[in-house]
Amino acid sequence: MSNLVSYGRERTIGVITVDNPPLNALSVGVRQGLLDGLAQGLRDAGAKALVIMGAGRTFSAGADIREFDRPLAPPDLNDVIGRIEASPKLVVAALHGTALGGGLEVALGCHYRCALRSTRVGFPEVTLGLVPGAGGTQRLPRLVGAELALRIITSGEPMPAERAHSLGRIDELIDGDLRAGAVAFAERLVAEGRPLRRLSAIDDKLEAARRDPGIFDRFRQEIERPARGYLAPFKCIEAVRAAVTLPFAEGLRRERELFLECLASPQARAQIHAFFAEREATKIPDVPRDTPARPIGTAAVIGAGTMGGGIAMTFANAGIPVAVVEASREALDRGLAVVRKNYAATVEKGRLAPAEMEQRLALIRGTLAWEVVADADIVVEAVFEEMAVKQEVFGRLDRLCKPTAILATNTSTLDVDRIAQATARPGQVIGTHFFSPANVMRLLELVRGARTATETIATAAALAGRLGKVWVLSGNCDGFIGNRMLAGYFREAAFLVEEGATPEQVDRVLYDFGFAMGPFAVSDLAGLDVGWRIRRGKAAARPTDLRYSPVADWLCERGRFGQKTGAGWYRYEPGSRTPRPDPEVAALIAESARAQGIRRREVGDEEVLTRCLYPLVNEGARLLADGIALRPGDIDVVYLHGYGFPRYRGGPMYWADTLGLKRVSDEIARYHRVHGRLWEPAPLLRQLAEQGRGFRDLGRA
Ligand SMILES: NC(=O)c1ccc[n+]([C@@H]2O[C@H](COP(=O)([O-])OP(=O)(O)OC[C@H]3O[C@@H](n4cnc5c(N)ncnc54)[C@H](O)[C@@H]3O)[C@@H](O)[C@H]2O)c1
Repeated sequence: MSNLVSYGRERTIGVITVDNPPLNALSVGVRQGLLDGLAQGLRDAGAKALVIMGAGRTFSAGADIREFDRPLAPPDLNDVIGRIEASPKLVVAALHGTALGGGLEVALGCHYRCALRSTRVGFPEVTLGLVPGAGGTQRLPRLVGAELALRIITSGEPMPAERAHSLGRIDELIDGDLRAGAVAFAERLVAEGRPLRRLSAIDDKLEAARRDPGIFDRFRQEIERPARGYLAPFKCIEAVRAAVTLPFAEGLRRERELFLECLASPQARAQIHAFFAEREATKIPDVPRDTPARPIGTAAVIGAGTMGGGIAMTFANAGIPVAVVEASREALDRGLAVVRKNYAATVEKGRLAPAEMEQRLALIRGTLAWEVVADADIVVEAVFEEMAVKQEVFGRLDRLCKPTAILATNTSTLDVDRIAQATARPGQVIGTHFFSPANVMRLLELVRGARTATETIATAAALAGRLGKVWVLSGNCDGFIGNRMLAGYFREAAFLVEEGATPEQVDRVLYDFGFAMGPFAVSDLAGLDVGWRIRRGKAAARPTDLRYSPVADWLCERGRFGQKTGAGWYRYEPGSRTPRPDPEVAALIAESARAQGIRRREVGDEEVLTRCLYPLVNEGARLLADGIALRPGDIDVVYLHGYGFPRYRGGPMYWADTLGLKRVSDEIARYHRVHGRLWEPAPLLRQLAEQGRGFRDLGRA
């Protein structure tokens, strides 16, 4: 028998235990081991029923994703589950930790399921661009009905055991020792003479959908917008429909076809890449996992503006008490009112209980008295984006905070090292670059200064995890990873409209690519005045020999700051967020083109796409060469979580690899010839292209 699965007996119950740390992935050895364990249990005359459980911290997190690269080795998980279900002895799945994907499919193949209350169950396949492939889409609808199954399978979200229990997915909740509880549960089922519940043979729960086949089209329409561009959610619908319309065995075959179709799709490859990139990003070569992290019990945020308020909410949402320090009573009151309003809106949508809102608000303490920072284990500064102001704040924090406290800055453009110089503890200074709205956006760029200590990084990383953020470590440079790359994106968008494209065309092309919004719609949403202020601050340093589009500045000079003023790159009807083309903007664009001597022409969609996106790739290559980003995957994670890059395309660097770097590099070289220095090809990109390699090959010989 495989050493990944063992068999033992407890009184009259045979216990099959999967032990494949860390997550009990259902690798080929585990699949064979389950078959062997089952056979042994069936031979064991003293065993009246069987329990399948996992050793260690979890039942099973599902398939071994790494095996997806190769043809799947026998035994097939479907066959294993079929044999479990066909067992003449009653089989109980005993769940703890997580039962995800294939793990949950094994559990659905068992006749009954019990679980510790802390267990979470779900089908994350859709987030990897896949359909559950071992009967999940056929058995779950037979257990909970088609409609609920659709929701569960297309959401990919794990569900807490108690809720799963209330929906009938789990038959029994267990407190205390799982093995003892599961054995007792199995004994009780035997004593009560309960039948072998084989889900493949039960279909009363499918009746509702059989009577009303329209539910599939309705559901498709419901997810059309949120799942726009994705393949897998729609394949999941097809698979569940097969459960309703076909006999079990045929449905299973259909599910397998859909699974393989998804697995072979570029989307699944991209989403699996994203999955691994997120894990990889948390590995920092000189900050090993056992680097001591300081405990964070309380926090403080300086500034209650747009970002400070959101950051305070993030702490409160994680149960961490946070003091918010402001310069004036008025700013404080305004900031806290926004926080309250944001929570109230969440309550109104039914996503937060009123009592929870009050609990969270109680964790946020606004004050004008700086002394409160003395208690904080970490302080996050989110004041105006001005070096002198930041340095003054950090000098003050250094004097007031306890010696162990970490001092973090939310600056988006300033030099973290210069901010750190205002303190006597540069090792404890780090950039924590949140994205707006900070309580919603999952990305956190941690910015490492020249003297940031590894312990500071480990502490900020651990905190990021508690705050529910996806974090990426960036070196210290203007714009860090995300915004430094983005500069070229907005620059080219503005140039393209001067050359003859329209804002609507540019936005449509990027929307169709998979972004939630194009660059002009985003600018109008974020407010054009922010960038205008930054550009005015840097105007003196702007090279005069480089092309510069003044249109955004002209819009601001006319008070067109975007949605908030009813006009920006577009105009907005009162109370509406729908962008409408505006002849006034078209005239400004034409005037700018005339002044620069640009002959306007028809600009093709393909050019719009490459002009906007290749600068990301080119600058990304520079970030890698400079060591600002540790890995191409880190850049992808930044773009997936901070900028709405479509996950099914894997991120800008992965996407470039799928196009082939030769093609990207040649096109950049061509733009360089046409448009000059702003398109200077990154040496690393050119080198990889010449060698026929991709970003994915970096770090490999
Ligand atoms: N807005 C964004 O999208 C965004 C995104 C990422 C990072 N950032 C960065 O976050 C920081 C804050 O940006 P914001 O958009 O929240 O600005 P904001 O103008 O909305 O808020 C700044 C707040 O800081 C307060 N403040 C100023 N000086 C202070 C002082 N000495 N002591 C205490 N409070 C003081 C102000 O009263 C104001 O309420 C900036 O460094 C900015 O670059 C902003």
